[in-house]
This record gives sequence, structure tokens and C-alpha cells, in this order.
Amino acid sequence: MDRTTLKKWVIDARASTLALVRDLSDEQFRPPLLRTINPFLWEIGHAAYFHEYWVLRHAAGLTPLVPNPDALYDSAKIPHDTRWDLPLPSRPATIDYIEAVRDRVLDRIDSEDLGERDIYFILLSVFHEDMHDEAFTITRQTLGYPLPVNAGNADYSSGPHPGDVTVPGGTFTIGSTAGAGFIFDNEKWAHTVEIPAFRIARAPVTQSEYANFLDATGAKHPGYWKRDPQGGWLRRHFDRWVPIEPHRPVANISWFEADAYCQWAGRRLPTEFEWEVAATGSNRSSANLDWSAGGCCDVASFANGDSIYGCRQMIGNVWEWTSSDFLPYEGFSEDPYKEYSSPWFRTHKTLRGGAWSTRSRLIRTAYRNFYTPDRRDIWAGFRTCAL
Ligand code: AVJ
Ligand code: FE
Repeated sequence: MDRTTLKKWVIDARASTLALVRDLSDEQFRPPLLRTINPFLWEIGHAAYFHEYWVLRHAAGLTPLVPNPDALYDSAKIPHDTRWDLPLPSRPATIDYIEAVRDRVLDRIDSEDLGERDIYFILLSVFHEDMHDEAFTITRQTLGYPLPVNAGNADYSSGPHPGDVTVPGGTFTIGSTAGAGFIFDNEKWAHTVEIPAFRIARAPVTQSEYANFLDATGAKHPGYWKRDPQGGWLRRHFDRWVPIEPHRPVANISWFEADAYCQWAGRRLPTEFEWEVAATGSNRSSANLDWSAGGCCDVASFANGDSIYGCRQMIGNVWEWTSSDFLPYEGFSEDPYKEYSSPWFRTHKTLRGGAWSTRSRLIRTAYRNFYTPDRRDIWAGFRTCAL
């Protein structure tokens, strides 16, 4: 990884963080205590603190910019609900802190003795900030705030993309190897699995398909949906109500709801291994990522990103729930950021592929996301397999 790209990513991550909160009033900046979100003031400080902790203190041996930042921003030490009651610096002082940390990291990248280990922690910190930037986007949707100012409005209308593809059975490699570039601990290590042939949908389940399920079963509607008095459904996109978009994927449903849909449709969720195999060869430069559409797009878009089996949008648009519990692979060991995966094994389900608010530099077919199965605030949908 060259210095120019590293600096570009550090600058871009911090600019995105600022763009995601800058337009908020002081009142909007103080959200109510909710289990699924963090207060903005804490979370922007935490994202910068992470760079300070790993790149500046841990890898470079520098001293912190402010006294005892661990007591404010270490997510492993500060319980969730406490984040609303900390003696945090003011909003302007916090912005000064996160900009000062960025500038120190940029200086570090320019230093003579920058090594592989430093580069690892810089990438870890950028990707961690990317994850929080997706979280800021989700929080704004949760609270009914406007679409973030850094979101684009690209039009990816394209229609439905029905049907299944067949993935032939075989022995496949899952996970990541040491030489694969930056990887997270939960991808260790690459190993082979035997998978019988399976049929998997070309595209995620759409809003119109999900509405058919609601009509047939009276199941609970997705988060942010309500009945349109004129008939049909409305969906809240940030601060506006819009008619549901029939050919865009359904999102904001729990794992349980995805599973219930499958049972009704006589289908099943893919395992995360099936998902990873079916996604082979997907091209992340042809995908709905990086906020470019300001939301989800139709499921037929991005034909150029298709996997070698013909699955579309495995990367981008919506995260996809899989049937798999989030478990360590054979050979797993914690990396220096020990709390990244270990605390969450067994209680969480694995999601794959990234959403419209995920960064293209972060997402790969081997990337494993994880949430508890009850979460409905994520841009998570699903695709189904034939029984
Ligand atoms: C991997 C997205 C589930 O947001 O809880 C951020 C990422 N870990 N700070 C999360 C994360 C620590 C994590 N997810
Ligand atoms: Fe974090």
C-alpha cells in the first residue's frame, strides 16, 4: 500500500465522518438513548481515538493528545449507555481533536520509518472509521434525519432480475490467506469446504416480493414501512415518506423475518459458505456502494459486477443475512484489536456483501459482517436458495 493512497484514505475517511454529522443542529446532535445507536459526539471522537490508539500510541509509541482518552472513547471499556453521560469535550473541541489526530496520522505516514506494521494499523483504523461512517448513516435513518450531505443521487433504475442460478457442487476455498492483503481476524484462515450443488437467486428479494408475503401472511411489515391510505405501502427514507420501490431489495428486516419469508416461499437462506462461493468473481467497482445512489437501487442494475455464476449485486446495495451463526473458522486467533470479533461469536448471525452505504475499499466477498438476528435498523435484506 503506497503512502499516497494511505493519506488519501485517511483524509477521505475523516472528511466523510465530518460530512455525516456537520449539517446536524445541536439538538439533532444529542440523540435519545437507544440500544442500536451511539451519540454522535461520542462516536466521532471514538472513530478518531481509534487511529490515535493504534497508529500513534500502539504502533508509533507517541503520547496521547489529550489526557486519558481511554476513559472517554475506548468502546471495550465504556458501556453503551454510559456514552450518553460522559464528560466529553464540546462539539467544537471534539472536531479540533479529530482533525488534530488526522494531521498527526498524516505526518506519521510521511515519516521515514513507516513499516508494514504501521500500514496494518492505518488500514485497520480507516476501515474501522468506514464502519462507523455506515453506522452514522444508519443512525440518521433511525432518527428520521435528512439523507447525509455526502450522499449522491445516481439513478440506477433497471427493474427486477428474477430466477435462480445453479452453482455446481465441489470443494471450495472459504476465508482468507495471509498473503491476501488486509484481512480481519474472523477470516482466518482460508480452508476448504465440500458444498453440494445448490440453486441460488440471481438477486435479493425485492420489496414487491416481500409485499406479496405480507399480503399472504399478515406478517409484520419491515421497519419504516406503513400502509399508504391510497393502497399499497409507504417507506420512510430518512426524513421523507416515499411509495415502496417494487424492484429494489427489501431491507430493515430482522433475520427472523428473512427466515419466515423463506419458509412461506418454500425456500431457504444460503449458508455463508454458499454465499461466498456464489459471489466468486463479483466486481466491486460495478456495485451500489459509497453512498452514490443515496439509497438502494433496483436489483437488475450492475450487470457488470455479476459473479462468475451470474449472481447480481452480491457486493453492494443491501447486506444479506445468511443462515449461518457467526462462528470462528478453523485456525482463528484474535488480532491485536481483540474485541473486533471474539465477543460476538455465537450470538450473532453472519451477513455478507455490503450495502449502498458501505465503502468499496472495505468490502470483499470474504468480508464477514455480524449482527444479532433481531436487528432491523441495518440495510440488510436477503437472497434465497431453492430447497
Ligand atoms: C462489524 C459493523 C458489526 O459496528 O459493531 C465498529 C464494527 N467494531 N467498532 C459494529 C465495529 C468496533 C461492528 N460491525
Ligand atoms: Fe468502534
